[in-house]
Amino acid sequence: MSDKLLELSGVHTHIGAYHILHGVDLCVPRGQLTMLLGRNGAGKTTTLRTIMGLWQASQGSIRFAGQEIAHMATPTIARQSIAYVPENMGIFADLTVEQNLLLAARGAAHAGQMEAARLQWIFGLFPAVEKFWHYPAGKLSGGQKQMVAVARAIVEPRDLLIIDEPSKGLAPAIIDNMIAAFEQLKAAGSTILLVEQNIHFAQRLGDSVAVMDDGRIVHAGSMQELAEDRELQQSLLGLAL
Ligand SMILES: Nc1ncnc2c1ncn2[C@@H]1O[C@H](COP(=O)(O)OP(=O)(O)OP(=O)(O)O)[C@@H](O)[C@H]1O
Ligand SMILES: [Mg+2]
Repeated sequence: MSDKLLELSGVHTHIGAYHILHGVDLCVPRGQLTMLLGRNGAGKTTTLRTIMGLWQASQGSIRFAGQEIAHMATPTIARQSIAYVPENMGIFADLTVEQNLLLAARGAAHAGQMEAARLQWIFGLFPAVEKFWHYPAGKLSGGQKQMVAVARAIVEPRDLLIIDEPSKGLAPAIIDNMIAAFEQLKAAGSTILLVEQNIHFAQRLGDSVAVMDDGRIVHAGSMQELAEDRELQQSLLGLAL
């Protein structure tokens, strides 16, 4: 089996008349957490949306588990065992937390059919999910919605988890909860691709890292190497980790 679960080579994406991605090369090793960093507008969300087929790559290749997925429709890509949590979280505001999770659990018609041990594990990671189980998800706070969104993505095991800025707008205590949850997911062997702006979060969790600027990957390597090299951080991100 390849050690690369996901590999983008020379990916270009146009949105309408705008040329946004200019030949993205990105590798997500199996069993690792890969951080995608970069300034606002660098093209991180566009990269994730292109992987999921929400924007079509105009050029280049996207291989998942050895298979070309660049021209597949989004539902087909998701069925290859990829869970995606978009920047706006993508939860159903009018449905209860339970119903939100049920929709993500293939084949379960009610909570009794969701795998009990996995549900208990999720409740342990995100107590708010259990506490607000019967509440409409739209009534929860931003941080609680974020937890529901991540819980939806992990309600069933997937080969790859792709999450756009899970820490956005969260209080420091909640970020610590989220970090603990991702640490557990990592320990369980999940492959994860995370977009992050929170450097504390990125540094605590990342195994490998890719930095984008202006629609290209301008650096790729280990998180540890970047965390230890302040000059590199300055030149890539304009800040210190
Ligand atoms: N629907 C769209 N139409 C036109 N341009 C877009 C659209 N979506 C994104 N862009 C442009 O593409 C570029 C990359 O945007 P993208 O959302 O991928 O950045 P990002 O790295 O995720 O930024 P952020 O950190 O702010 O979330 C930006 O210049 C943005 O203005
Ligand atoms: Mg973004």
